[in-house]
Amino acid sequence: MVDYDLVLKNGTIVTAAGTDAADVGVRGGEIAGIAPHLHGAQEIDCQGLLITPGAVDVHVHLQYPIGSLTTTDDFFTGTRAAALGGTTAVIDFVEAQPQQSLLDALAQRQALAAERAIIDYGFHMTITPHDIPKLAQVADVVAAGCPSFKHYMAYSFRLHDGQLLQSFQAIRRAGGLPIVHAENWDVIQTLVQQNLAIGRSDPRWHPRSRPALMEGEAAGRVINLAALAETPLYIFHVSCQAVVERIAAARAGGQPVFAETCPQYLLLDDSLFDRPEAAGALPVCAPPLRPLGEQEPLWMALARGDLHVISTDHCPFWLADKAAALGDFSRIPGGLPSIESRFALAYTFGVGAGRLSLSQWVDCCCTMPAQLMGFTKKGQIAVGYDADLVVFDPRQPVTLSTKTLHENVDWTPYDGFQLTGWPRHTLSRGQWLVRDGQFVGQPGQGRFVARRLATT
Ligand code: URP
Ligand code: ZN
Repeated sequence: MVDYDLVLKNGTIVTAAGTDAADVGVRGGEIAGIAPHLHGAQEIDCQGLLITPGAVDVHVHLQYPIGSLTTTDDFFTGTRAAALGGTTAVIDFVEAQPQQSLLDALAQRQALAAERAIIDYGFHMTITPHDIPKLAQVADVVAAGCPSFKHYMAYSFRLHDGQLLQSFQAIRRAGGLPIVHAENWDVIQTLVQQNLAIGRSDPRWHPRSRPALMEGEAAGRVINLAALAETPLYIFHVSCQAVVERIAAARAGGQPVFAETCPQYLLLDDSLFDRPEAAGALPVCAPPLRPLGEQEPLWMALARGDLHVISTDHCPFWLADKAAALGDFSRIPGGLPSIESRFALAYTFGVGAGRLSLSQWVDCCCTMPAQLMGFTKKGQIAVGYDADLVVFDPRQPVTLSTKTLHENVDWTPYDGFQLTGWPRHTLSRGQWLVRDGQFVGQPGQGRFVARRLATT
């Protein structure tokens, strides 16, 4: 009897809870059955392959204006690359203009994504100093399905401690989740000026102007502010042990603090800034890559549960735009691409290298990000969830390069990395996005997903 539209047969299902040898039946875009011997109108043999939830990347910057530049992946190219890498949902950002309402800005950004996105998406609302007088609007933004709010402690649009506190209080009242980019901007600016004043303008002075010690200080401060406001907190792109220690201490005391790290902090180190010419400028991002030795403790924190998510902070710029600022490291546009390779990088260097179990891999890349950010029907293989599914070949060899990747950018920090394991098929709500490694999706196929936090 044909009970399902599609059945993934004979694979090994991997969830955050364990592995299971069973078929997955899809009906009406949802997972409708998990059991042996299911039958469907379409049946796909997954013998020897892993079946995982679609991966969820909660930190991407697509066609995102930063200063005079815009990130080079738009909602089409970025989400196509994501789908090819097994990611079926992303969260991007909204920033309101000074005179614009938060809801207006959200609607504008939604319209932009709707035309082009391949996979489902949500948005974090950014709270800048202009938005402090608008904090009464936070509840409407949460009700519109955008319950997470980004705050910067760096850059010209950073918030001061009092503003962070006000914003956290408003978000707590509305049942939302504050997110923070934690760095100490005053110290960074001082060190940048000191270094530039004595001719230290090369990219290698970028990490030396943004010390791990002060990322730890900023994280500790924002954790304290969250405690004062009695709100949960999510910390973006943790790069070093100094932050992990603060998170672990807060969590040991019962404070609901959650955090992500990214492939660049797990796999790259600050020696890359010593490369000559443009090569040294390419890996500039904030927080910066850290010295060799900082990476392993981040893996260990993921395995222990003191870090919860691997996201990308995908923020691509052309090589020429990075190179154009070579005379002054502080002007190099910050950000690295990895929207396509994250899931497979985490497999090869996490599971393959014995640092993460299969379940921890799925938890960090799929389940936890969905749960923490309120994607209530994503990130799990369970009946009633969206049929966002990846069939992953754990033996597929891939050498990363701009030739093998589909991100719209002319360099990758992972050039030459040899992976074992890559997605073969990607499905979104039961629809094929990638079949046998070939992209078959359509622009506009992705939908805005109204997210609801467990606490709201
Ligand atoms: O350098 C980075 N990370 N660029 C993206 C914006 C941000 O700070 O998250
Ligand atoms: Zn950031």
